Amino acid sequence: MEKSNGLRVVLFPLPIQGCINPMFQLAKILHSRGFSITVIHTRFNAPKASNHPLYTFLEIPDGLSEAEASTQDVTLLLTLLNRSCESPFRDCLTKLLRSSEEEKQRISCLIDDAGWIFTQPLAWSLNLPRLVTNTYKVSFFVGHFVIPELSRERYLPLQVTCSEQDEPAEEFPPLKKKDLLQILDGETEVLNSYSDMILQTTKASSGLIFVSSCEELDQESLSQARKDYQIPVFAIGPSHIYFPGSSSSLFTVDETCIQWLDKQEDNSVIYVSFGSVVNISETELLEIAWGLRNSDQPFLWVVRVGMVNGNKWVEAIPEELMERLKEKGKIVKWAPQQEVLKHRATGGFLTHNGWNSTVESVCEGVPMICVPSVWDQLLNARFVSDVWMVGLHLEGRIERNEIERVVRKLLLEPDGEVIRERMKLLAEKVGRSVKQNGSAYRSLERLVDHISSF
Ligand code: UDX
Repeated sequence: MEKSNGLRVVLFPLPIQGCINPMFQLAKILHSRGFSITVIHTRFNAPKASNHPLYTFLEIPDGLSEAEASTQDVTLLLTLLNRSCESPFRDCLTKLLRSSEEEKQRISCLIDDAGWIFTQPLAWSLNLPRLVTNTYKVSFFVGHFVIPELSRERYLPLQVTCSEQDEPAEEFPPLKKKDLLQILDGETEVLNSYSDMILQTTKASSGLIFVSSCEELDQESLSQARKDYQIPVFAIGPSHIYFPGSSSSLFTVDETCIQWLDKQEDNSVIYVSFGSVVNISETELLEIAWGLRNSDQPFLWVVRVGMVNGNKWVEAIPEELMERLKEKGKIVKWAPQQEVLKHRATGGFLTHNGWNSTVESVCEGVPMICVPSVWDQLLNARFVSDVWMVGLHLEGRIERNEIERVVRKLLLEPDGEVIRERMKLLAEKVGRSVKQNGSAYRSLERLVDHISSF
């Protein structure tokens, strides 16, 4: 770590795993560059302060009831949080600014997620620069503001005939029409005004940081963002590479995964995980279970507690099938994903294509099987399967025969080998971006200068 530069930054992560990891990666980077770090966080999904003894943590009440905290509707959760956190956050930040003045330590800026929409006017009123982070792929962030307009124009299933489903969605490339319909299907009125606020507050901010992307993955969209928003835009990722082995997990990690992987052959294991928020039905659980078993390949499968609708964990899998699954694989509640993807035995990743998972897989050169479920995952999956061609797409068919077919194709067939080779090249290209003088590295240097200049 560089010696302290006398500046403090205040971070305010959105309390969902997919946003907490990148925010803490950014914290580690800035801390290593001499900044002191204060993290303001909600009580809901509070990060584990003991994992980060060098940072200051300040908790604010979030006012969520138990039912609200357990909602599966992420947009609803975020709008509730925005409503209930405004006043406690304001109090906390005002107090912090006052005490830092007394202690003569300068707070350089606030860095928080684009999804916090009340913080921009607040930072403005306190004369504190605010930078925005975003954890989506740049092209999704830039493109998704078209969604409210498309829904107003009634881009409805009726207008897309069966034969058109696989055609490109010109309004939002490289999505197909059916992907766009799936995104619009989950879209609500609440989201329209929320998206609009995100756009306005981002444009009013002092800079936009893409923590998990770089020119090599998103060049065109980065140029677009710079042109559209007219604020400094930084793409400093994939930032988990700077400090591997994340310690910001909200879940208890099952460390036995690595010992189990140690016993498997190189590139033989299919790793299955759907991130921290996606839920599946009991039928999907069983189809995946049968598909994995019938593929006859070793697998490591993450099923979060409560992830299967109406179930506690995997009790819906009949005992006989469970015995057969255990012959080839391992089911855990949460895995050390970055280490799993890095492991020589991991040969493929059956994923929901959350952006963090997608980037982590790219960085480790692990080809994917795409099972996107909602929102940005559909776009990420198209990049993986159709643009970079480093994975296979299940096209929504969570069926045992399909799963068996794609797992075997990826791990055992020549087509899979070609995909793996392509992925290796992409991994090398992206890996170079965080090395000295790489695009992400240079962007990070500019970000550090920018924050230091306030
Ligand atoms: C959410 C959204 O669902 C996603 O669409 C968006 O791109 C980011 O925010 P999430 O679903 O949690 O994220 O997925 P993802 O972005 O892949 O992040 C999951 C994180 O949890 C990854 O960093 C992954 O390494 C970690 N993880 C996941 C584990 O450490 N262990 C696990 O067992 C599963």
